[in-house]
Amino acid sequence: MENLDPDVPNRSDEHLSPPTDCSPAGRRYAITTFGCQMNKADSERMAGILEAMGYQHEEDELAADLVIYNTCSIRDNAEQKVYSYLGRQAQRKRRNPHLTLVVAGCVAQQEGESLLRRVPELDLVMGPQHANRLDSLLEQVERGQQVVATADHHILEDLTKPRRGSTVTAWVNVIYGCNERCTYCVVPATRGGEQSRTPQAIAREIGDLARQGYKEITLLGQNIDAYGRDLPGITPSGRRCHTLTDLLHFIHPVEGIERIRFATSHPRYFTQRLITACAELPKVCEHFHIPFQSGDDEVLRQMARGYTVSRYRRIIQSIRQVMPEAAISADAIVGFPGETEEQFQNTLQLVEDIGFDQLNTAAYSPRPHTPAATRPDQLPETVKLDRLRRLNGLAERCARQRNQRYAHKVVEVLVEGANPKNPQQLMGRTRTNRLVFLPATAGHGPGDLVQVHIDVVRPFSLSGSLAPSA
Ligand code: SAH
Ligand code: SF4
Ligand code: F3S
Repeated sequence: MENLDPDVPNRSDEHLSPPTDCSPAGRRYAITTFGCQMNKADSERMAGILEAMGYQHEEDELAADLVIYNTCSIRDNAEQKVYSYLGRQAQRKRRNPHLTLVVAGCVAQQEGESLLRRVPELDLVMGPQHANRLDSLLEQVERGQQVVATADHHILEDLTKPRRGSTVTAWVNVIYGCNERCTYCVVPATRGGEQSRTPQAIAREIGDLARQGYKEITLLGQNIDAYGRDLPGITPSGRRCHTLTDLLHFIHPVEGIERIRFATSHPRYFTQRLITACAELPKVCEHFHIPFQSGDDEVLRQMARGYTVSRYRRIIQSIRQVMPEAAISADAIVGFPGETEEQFQNTLQLVEDIGFDQLNTAAYSPRPHTPAATRPDQLPETVKLDRLRRLNGLAERCARQRNQRYAHKVVEVLVEGANPKNPQQLMGRTRTNRLVFLPATAGHGPGDLVQVHIDVVRPFSLSGSLAPSA
């Protein structure tokens, strides 16, 4: 029978897996997540959908009846990882036809049907825009179809409860997709165009989180400064909620939420109004993640980033004027095609001048269907890796130096849980997003805001002890 669902490629019978008893009751699922916070948030929602269908969670992906790889293709090595995992599962599937194998996320979107050719054992290939309709896609799989869901799709509100990894901090998507065209980046192709959720849906989710006892939320978007520009004008209450700044004001009153964060900021759209709101709204934490990618104007131009190094410096200056303690983190790429040693030196200079609390660094990796990948002036791996090593050395020095300001100070820490590597310790974060370890003490647990005296400072974490209460 011809299927009429645009997501389902028509296949001849010999491609159909035999209809098997795949009814969810009693079946166990495992999800392995690669990539960024968006993917992690998508996985939490997909897990919520599966549990609403009757599936049970299974830690061991080699023991599960349904396996989802939620994939990332930001760099080639992220993508390659998936194929080795899939190889193992394909072998399992040949022994156990009842196994359901799913590839979700950015590699699924990028590769689409060609993934089926590469791994014919797959049951479902689904792009990120389809995460919230996992249930209906699995129903098609249960009918014996191999399904590819990569068509551009309006993202539906997820009506189930996500299965969140934490009981204290939660991610809240506010805008999906990205309309930028950074010449190195695969994300617009994998996540599609911008789609903002309504302020009401966001506030409802945050209200539910507060009622469940969550204390901290992080608003998520690939370019969160774009929030609201695709929404129609006025909210039912007659209030405009067109920008991230408006949204922060709109959700700030939710009772029970103590801390609000947001990521990722784009220097092109970052506004003074946003800085002022962050300084004025007490729950908004003093941490900004604003990737700069390169410290050289010509490289930025070739990356199509839409700002100059001096604009970036001005943003940081403005933040520090009103929030001198604010932590600044960023992403940077080394070895963009044609990047000269001198241009790379400009990146080092910017890092040295700003003094980042944390820097995520990457060697440029050519990605399919991106303009920079076709340039003839690709740099040799050895040059990229040498620059990466030098930048990492500097970034670590900066982080260590920045962390010194916490030595022997008392800071507010939101306890997130036990240290997985040492149950004698609790771990939590400062408002500036520094990871802090402290001895587990009777009477304190996840969700508590405690005052901690910092005794040990490392580049990427701090340790301390409970400060005597005032
Ligand atoms: N939306 C965010 C970043 C999303 S991707 C922004 O605009 O900054 C996360 C990070 O991966 C990027 O900040 C960039 O530093 C890195 N990245 C993206 N594409 C890359 C590529 N082709 N090679 C190496 N690093 C890349
Ligand atoms: Fe990629 Fe640029 Fe969009 Fe960030 S803003 S996701 S780097 S295209
Ligand atoms: Fe990777 Fe997709 Fe996120 S490519 S970084 S999982 S948006």
